Amino acid sequence: MNYAKVILVPVLVLCFAAMAEEIATLRNNTAIDADVNPEYIPKPTNDDIKQARNYPMQPPIIPHTDRDYEVNLNVNTCMSCHARNRTSESQAPMVSVTHYMDRDGNFLAEISARRYFCNQCHVTQLSTEPKVENDFVDMHTILAEKAAKPQGQ
Ligand code: HEC
Ligand code: HEC
Repeated sequence: MNYAKVILVPVLVLCFAAMAEEIATLRNNTAIDADVNPEYIPKPTNDDIKQARNYPMQPPIIPHTDRDYEVNLNVNTCMSCHARNRTSESQAPMVSVTHYMDRDGNFLAEISARRYFCNQCHVTQLSTEPKVENDFVDMHTILAEKAAKPQGQ
């Protein structure tokens, strides 16, 4: 073994060890074969208050609980309130008109197959501390910061 290898190998081993620690954050670095006490599961937010979208194409988040609202081959419980012809009774907002469009842009009478599984895109929120840090910045904040800077910077 030459000197380069003698130094490189332990350095690589240390790097991988450091990376492994970083990846295991959600389990608090518990060994893979060890059990942990499951954490308390917070309830979904159910305040019926519309949340602002972070960008125009964001699927709006669900401001009510979705427990037991089944979506399967036989039933789509979401559509029992959010379908066009159900909204006067439910007072729910109609699904977006895009949800009635097929991939060629034709409007359909029923929800498009592309939009059938609502929870693929729409989710409830939990009132809890985020597990992973998020440094998303709204575009209006970026525009305001840019406008505040002197020209040419
Ligand atoms: C019992 C009727 C009912 C059912 C069932 C229902 N919703 Fe709703 N939903 C509402 C109402 C009413 C609102 C308006 C805000 C509120 O009162 O919670 C709403 C709001 C929403 C919004 C927010 C829209 C916006 O513009 O911010 C989304 C998204 C949504 N629902 C998705 C769903 C999904 C997905 C399901 C199925 C898992 C579902 N809803 C089932 C009644 C319902
Ligand atoms: C493939 C992703 C996707 C799926 C699946 C989907 N949505 Fe959406 N939804 C969106 C996006 C994106 C928007 C906002 C942009 C738009 O209007 O298309 C939206 C908008 C909405 C809105 C707000 C409408 C408004 O005018 O304020 C409601 C309510 C909604 N969806 C309910 C549903 C329900 C109920 C289902 C299931 C039957 C569903 N969505 C399935 C992506 C999706």
